[in-house]
Amino acid sequence: MCDIWFNNLLLYPRNLGISEITLFKEITIKRMENEFSAIFEKNREWAKRMVTKDPEFFQRLADQQKPQFLWIGCSDSRVPSNQITGMDPGELFVHRNIANMVHHSDFNVLSVLQYSVDALKVRHIIVCGHYSCGGVKASLEMTDHGLVDNWIRPIKQVYEEHLEDFEGLSESEVVNKLCEWNVREQVRNVGRSTIVQKAWRRGQPLSVHGVIYSVKDGKLKDMGCSISDPAQLPSIYHIRQE
Ligand code: CO
Repeated sequence: MCDIWFNNLLLYPRNLGISEITLFKEITIKRMENEFSAIFEKNREWAKRMVTKDPEFFQRLADQQKPQFLWIGCSDSRVPSNQITGMDPGELFVHRNIANMVHHSDFNVLSVLQYSVDALKVRHIIVCGHYSCGGVKASLEMTDHGLVDNWIRPIKQVYEEHLEDFEGLSESEVVNKLCEWNVREQVRNVGRSTIVQKAWRRGQPLSVHGVIYSVKDGKLKDMGCSISDPAQLPSIYHIRQE
C-alpha cells in the first residue's frame, strides 16, 4: 500500500503539498537507509560462506597479500574484476577508473602501479577494457560532459590515429572498435611508464596484457597485445642509466 502511494508521488511530484513533501522525504531517507544497511547483511552472508568453504581463509589473508596480478579496469559496475576472473580476495591488486585510462600525470594510477610492481612484485599487469564502454562512447561525442571530458580526451586521439579502421562501421561498432584500440593504447602507456621501464631495466619479470570484456556474455578476450620486454616499445622510452 505504502509503495503504491510512494510511486504515485514520484509520478506527480509537482502536485505535492508541504506535508506530503515532508513525508516523501522521510520515506526516501528510510529507503536509502535500508539500501545501505542491506550491504552489511550481504557482507555477513558472504563472510560466512567463505569461512564455511575454508575456515583459515581470512586468517591467512590478514597476515599479508601476495597477488600475482595488477588489474587496471573501467569503473563500470558491470565489470567487477574479481568476479569475472573467478579470483578470491588477495589474488588481484586493483585500480579502476573511467575507461581504464593510464595517464602519466595521474598519481593515483602511478602509485598503484609503483606499489604493485616495486613492493608486491606482481608478474602480470592486465589492462581490461570492455565493449559498450560509456567513457569511450562519450569520447566520440561532441557534447559537453563537464570535467570528465578532460579525463577521456586522449581517447579522441586514439580515434584520430586509427580513422581508417572505423570506415563503414555502425555507431556501436565504432564504439566497440575504439574500446579495443584504447586497451592497446593503455597497455603501451603502462609499458611506457618509468615504473615498468625501471622494472625491466633491473631484470624483473613483468608482462603487460590487454584484455576486453563483453558485458553481453560475460566473456573475457585476450587482445594479443602483451608486452614483456622494453624492445617492444620505441627506444625513446627506455631508461638506460641507473
Ligand atoms: Co567503461
